[in-house]
Amino acid sequence: MPGLTIGETLPNLEADSTHGRIKLYDYIGDSWAIVFSHPGDFTPVCTTELGKIAAYANEFAKRGVKLVGLSCDDVQSHKEWIKDIEAYTPGCKVTYPILADPNRELIKQLNMVDPDEKDPSGKEVPSRALHLVGPDKKIKLSFLYPASTGRNMDEVVRVLDSLQKAAKYKVATPANWKPGDPVVISPSVSNEQAKQMFPQGYKTADLPSKKDYLRFTNI
Ligand code: BEZ
Repeated sequence: MPGLTIGETLPNLEADSTHGRIKLYDYIGDSWAIVFSHPGDFTPVCTTELGKIAAYANEFAKRGVKLVGLSCDDVQSHKEWIKDIEAYTPGCKVTYPILADPNRELIKQLNMVDPDEKDPSGKEVPSRALHLVGPDKKIKLSFLYPASTGRNMDEVVRVLDSLQKAAKYKVATPANWKPGDPVVISPSVSNEQAKQMFPQGYKTADLPSKKDYLRFTNI
């Protein structure tokens, strides 16, 4: 059965966290948000990941993004583990809340259950899931990584930049795009509209089909 995915609305879940009891919508407000899960506290890859996310906190804040972590361990465990995370990634401070989900209710509602991994008592655990949520609370992008593969925070920031550009202008970002590279003009924009919308101009790729759908501009 498909679970929460792009285009759907993040549920307004309420949970205990390292910041006390949290209601997601109250915490996120009108901001963008990243809600991410990890398989468990005191595990190696997760320790590196949560430190790296904390180390990028300024990048996320600059882009108006609130961070929310989640694993199934309890709040006391999260608080103890944060000491390891901060020691392993010097200079990082875990200032974002980490939700606790001992009953595995949140991970089901957020479509974060790992189909392969179980904890030592046979209970479900989360995969490395990450939902990037827009100010309208809709899921704009989801990653679903297995326990074996840590996420790349540069990629998270890159896709966030792409999404925020696409939300502001009628553009999309091509393969391997990075900030500063040209973007492509959305197919829904006619050439006449493109001239008005992008006064800086645009270049159309000369393709064998002679169809002028691949148009690059700089914004
Ligand atoms: C880890 O964080 O290293 C990890 C967690 C669960 C399974 C495998 C690896």
